[in-house]
Amino acid sequence: SSSRTAALRGRFVTFTGNPFTMPPEDALHVEEDGLILIENGKITQCGAYDALRAQVPEGVSITHYPDSLISAGFIDTHVHYPQLPVIASWGEQLLEWLQQYVFPTEAKFSSPEFAQAIARAFLQELLRNGTTTAAVYCTVHPESVTAFFQESEKLGTRMIAGKVLMDRNAPDNLRDTAQQGFDESQKLIETWHNKGRQLYAITPRFAITSTPEQLECAGALFHSRDDLFMQTHLAENEDEIAFVKTLFPDRASYLDVYDKAGLVGPRAIFGHAIHMHEHDFQQCHDTHCTLAHCPTSNLFLGSGAFRLFDAMDPRRPVNVGLGTDIGAGTSFSLLSTMGEAYKVSLMAGKQRLHAIQAFWLATAGAAQALHLDDKIGTIAPGMEADLCVLDPAATPLLALRTKECASMADLLFVLMTLGDDRSVKATWVDGRPVYVRPETA
Ligand code: GUN
Ligand code: ZN
Repeated sequence: SSSRTAALRGRFVTFTGNPFTMPPEDALHVEEDGLILIENGKITQCGAYDALRAQVPEGVSITHYPDSLISAGFIDTHVHYPQLPVIASWGEQLLEWLQQYVFPTEAKFSSPEFAQAIARAFLQELLRNGTTTAAVYCTVHPESVTAFFQESEKLGTRMIAGKVLMDRNAPDNLRDTAQQGFDESQKLIETWHNKGRQLYAITPRFAITSTPEQLECAGALFHSRDDLFMQTHLAENEDEIAFVKTLFPDRASYLDVYDKAGLVGPRAIFGHAIHMHEHDFQQCHDTHCTLAHCPTSNLFLGSGAFRLFDAMDPRRPVNVGLGTDIGAGTSFSLLSTMGEAYKVSLMAGKQRLHAIQAFWLATAGAAQALHLDDKIGTIAPGMEADLCVLDPAATPLLALRTKECASMADLLFVLMTLGDDRSVKATWVDGRPVYVRPETA
């Protein structure tokens, strides 16, 4: 037939509710022997294999994943593709780390060929880790954005990305101007925003590297359409925060710097948000913006411990997603990131992150936070078919430990504590198997 039809069989999990506002187990649907029917990149039906097997059209072969766990693809809400080559760089905290490692590498992205090679490697790395959507920083060079979206479009991935805006406190070869940044972003929005599955994010790096004029321009762009994203960094590091205070002495807070420029609202994603006050969280709640919790990065740079349960206080909950923040982050894996988020939750307060909550943050919760929950983040009819197939026995240790698991919560916790790219057996994007783990001896 002319339609692209596929069928997956196996155990799957998906969210029917928010595990932060109900008993976690009640928010998760587990289908022990499930069938997921896909047509033209969208899930048409899903449920028990026995109930749905008759619906599989003749001639369509069923891809069977026995002894696996199928989830909606993971969503990474904060990551820098140009920093792939600087992951695991020793010895500095944020501001020195940017100067010493990040800026020299980002300068290389003036070359479209270099940008394309790294974009390709980066997207492969996401897929190897079961990540199917990400909010991605490019560099100041428009070519870096073009290269990224071109590669994403080839794979059919739903990606959010944008050109970094920097007009001060950065090397000569990495600065634009307020006007140039505006014009280049506008052109990229016209070309890429909503082109197939691609989405654009206005990307002022952070308050230190943009003048008030540039932040104003970013705000104007953000409001030029009603479904654009905005991404930047917020309150990550003590030295950074002190510097922002000297640059914007009239502002009430770091968040206020962005708010006064029109950069705070739905679809605005703030990376880190570690050093927050109660009124900051209240402002995030009131304005429906989103925070990206990046635990591996925050540990690697010694930035601090994100207060997840304060942010998500049910009296004034703030949207939160998980971010790997490569290259300050140390793993592409959202499984590893969930595992570190659990450890950070113990350091930051009394409440412990539950495994089901962690998986929600990496899938359905992130989709809600990004206002994309009508498209991605769950396994349900009408949703885009982005799926990740996990192998609970990927290593001898995982096989041994997961055999002991008495509940789904237990299994998910072991996966997030011990799992990583090795646990990803296959990744489906837009109804196609785009990654299949090589068989090991
Ligand atoms: N703040 C401004 N730029 C960056 C960056 O590239 N990485 C991190 N972790 N923080 C930042
Ligand atoms: Zn970042």
